[in-house]
Amino acid sequence: MLVSAKEMLEKAKEGKYAVGQFNINNLEWTKAVLQAAQESKSPVILGVSEGAGKYMTGFKTVSAMVKAMLEEMKITVPVALHLDHGTYEGCYKCIEAGFSSIMFDGSHYSIEENVEKTRELVKICHEKGMSVEAEVGSIGGEEDGVIGLGECADPNECKAVADLGVTMLAAGIGNIHGKYPENWPGLRFDVLDAIQQKTGKMPLVLHGGTGIPDDMIQKAISLGVAKINVNTECQLVFAEATRKYIEAGKDLEGKGFDPRKLLAPGTEAIVQIVKEKMELFGSAGKA
Ligand code: 13P
Repeated sequence: MLVSAKEMLEKAKEGKYAVGQFNINNLEWTKAVLQAAQESKSPVILGVSEGAGKYMTGFKTVSAMVKAMLEEMKITVPVALHLDHGTYEGCYKCIEAGFSSIMFDGSHYSIEENVEKTRELVKICHEKGMSVEAEVGSIGGEEDGVIGLGECADPNECKAVADLGVTMLAAGIGNIHGKYPENWPGLRFDVLDAIQQKTGKMPLVLHGGTGIPDDMIQKAISLGVAKINVNTECQLVFAEATRKYIEAGKDLEGKGFDPRKLLAPGTEAIVQIVKEKMELFGSAGKA
């Protein structure tokens, strides 16, 4: 059964570790992340972007697939199915499709409009026992064709949004989606610290988990980050393993072209990287 992300994140914040959100793109991805979570005895959040939802033919397909997999794979660790960077309309679609968690990314609205829409979605999600993530200060990089430049969130705005009753709060602290450029100056721990001082117990979310050095991840966790999003890194290891398989000519040997064989190395690479992240984030063994 899917669960809201509330309890797992409150426990993580208190226990000073973070739960990973791993974005899914298809059946293999989903299976790999669930397998890694079960084997690591870790809670997990499956992230679905609007683009990935569309790719999988819609949020209802995703929700039905994930729920069936939990049963068929006999998954016993807590799993949340979460809309990543949702639009206002996308949030409603996921509520209807049976997701257990949503992120409303209102960071491109004025703070007033962000607050108003977040308040409305929080009310509905509370009634349905779902968790809600809000974002203050846009996170840089490219996601689904939208390029942001990466801002630092204003701690007072974070406090205003946290007070609306959201479950977790994503705040820009110099993090960006995708690979980090060579000259990236690193995370702004001073800003993170100021945000945590204002928002107290609120679990904070670090987007753009790919490519952040391990020591920065650990420091971020020590300053209140309880959820870390990883997407690109799984795509990179999947592509690399698949390329190796093809470059070695394995698709031309016997039935190596069978998708169950062709996609196996990439899928296994995702299992491994997700397990490594669960160790690094400290969530392994916490379920
Ligand atoms: P990366 O693709 O950089 O890992 O970021 C993922 C993310 O933040 C999804 O919201």
